[in-house]
Amino acid sequence: MIDQQIKSVIRDIPDFPKPGIIFKDITPILKNPQVCDAITDAFIDQLKDIEIDVVAGVESRGFLFGLTLANRLGVPFIPVRKAGKLPYSVKQKAYELEYGTATIELHTDAFEPGQKVLVHDDLLATGGTVTATSELIKEMGGEVAGFCFVVGLSFLEGREKITPISDRVIVLAE
Ligand code: PRP
Ligand code: MG
Repeated sequence: MIDQQIKSVIRDIPDFPKPGIIFKDITPILKNPQVCDAITDAFIDQLKDIEIDVVAGVESRGFLFGLTLANRLGVPFIPVRKAGKLPYSVKQKAYELEYGTATIELHTDAFEPGQKVLVHDDLLATGGTVTATSELIKEMGGEVAGFCFVVGLSFLEGREKITPISDRVIVLAE
């Protein structure tokens, strides 16, 4: 099963980036081409009934499988970037973090109004990042086709936060 495959290769790093946090390190996945392929295959299988025009991947770890997924689906990939990184004209969205705020941006021509945008990130924690992403997509006239993640931290209840935005939420390993 894909969830067991993922869990067997990711590693927990205690007290990173600060004391009390157990960091889910996905870099061992990236060293394993078979697991990478299995993850992409699982996404493709679980997304088969969802209409998708564009895949949006969230900086930075959402780029890793986001581009692969878009290529396999045969649709454009668009990067959701932290403020100040995208060179063309942008729309931005600020959102709350545990301490302070963060801002994400999309190019104004990232997609056409009415297009169905799949939001991908490596990890679903509180859901704050992808909620801000979906709000930005909607403000720009897009539709959220759904969300997909490699890993989810169920104790942070991110799934509960994003299900009202779209009932199409795929988390390969929780
Ligand atoms: C991590 C992770 C997700 C986000 C999840 O990214 O890759 O993008 O946090 O958290 P949330 O569900 O509570 O919003 P991080 O900000 O560490 O940056 P990175 O991907 O650039 O490493
Ligand atoms: Mg991230």
